[in-house]
Amino acid sequence: MKKFLTLILALALTASLAACGSSNAPASSGSGSAGSAAGSGDASLTTAVDGVLSMATEATFPPYEYYDGDTIVGIDVEIAQAIADKLGLKLEVTDIAFDSIIPGVQTGKYDIGLAGMTVTDERLEQVNFTDSYATGIQVVIVSPNSSITSVDDLFAEGASHVVGTQTGTTGFIYATSDIQDAGLGEVKSFAKTTDAVEALKNGQVDCVILDNQPAQALVAANADAGLSILDTEYAVEDYAAAVSKDNAALTEAINGSLKELIADGTVQTILDKYISE
Ligand code: ARG
Repeated sequence: MKKFLTLILALALTASLAACGSSNAPASSGSGSAGSAAGSGDASLTTAVDGVLSMATEATFPPYEYYDGDTIVGIDVEIAQAIADKLGLKLEVTDIAFDSIIPGVQTGKYDIGLAGMTVTDERLEQVNFTDSYATGIQVVIVSPNSSITSVDDLFAEGASHVVGTQTGTTGFIYATSDIQDAGLGEVKSFAKTTDAVEALKNGQVDCVILDNQPAQALVAANADAGLSILDTEYAVEDYAAAVSKDNAALTEAINGSLKELIADGTVQTILDKYISE
């Protein structure tokens, strides 16, 4: 099962690299084309609102995006800010449902989707992905004394579990095909990761499939509930920013910024600030 998933993900990654390979951004000519930030930035870049890089995210995903008071903070916000700075754009972050992010990017309402989003084949049919900036691992959260003690228990013959996931995520997609469609249980999906964890706490679901870092953060935030994360991993994935297929120049510009931010250690510094392992 895991091998199968790994293969799918490897294919997805290859496809994403191919998709991000080469598009020709017109050379900056200073001709004042739409989207250039006043007095700065790359005049060839077009964004939804002139001078602004609008980012759609779903902010119940610590440490990638979460609320600190009224402000959305986290790894993705800082990386997007660093990219926006390089491109001479002002960053604007909007919190929407996770499964609305790709449609919002496709229709050009938002310039990028940055949400700990995994590169997959299906999504590559809808949007471009930038180069990857981080790795995610799908893990399984269980309650104290759960009968589920390893990922394999979910696939065991005769298994019948209720699995919680966030709507539209890879966890939801895997659980639907590997568990629900395989007759091994039922998938319940929630708009927010925090709702899925609440459902686990009050017994509505038997486990939650979620990305490793948010899983750790949410288990820690609910310390009184004694939740734990199974040792075995469900799948390993790559995170990247989603960009409209109609805006190849933006994907290219972001990749250029990302390369510099990875090379000069900025991305690692941001990751280390939020993840201590
Ligand atoms: N990595 C998973 C996916 O792409 C989950 C991402 C959820 N992100 C979020 N900000 N809620 O499907």
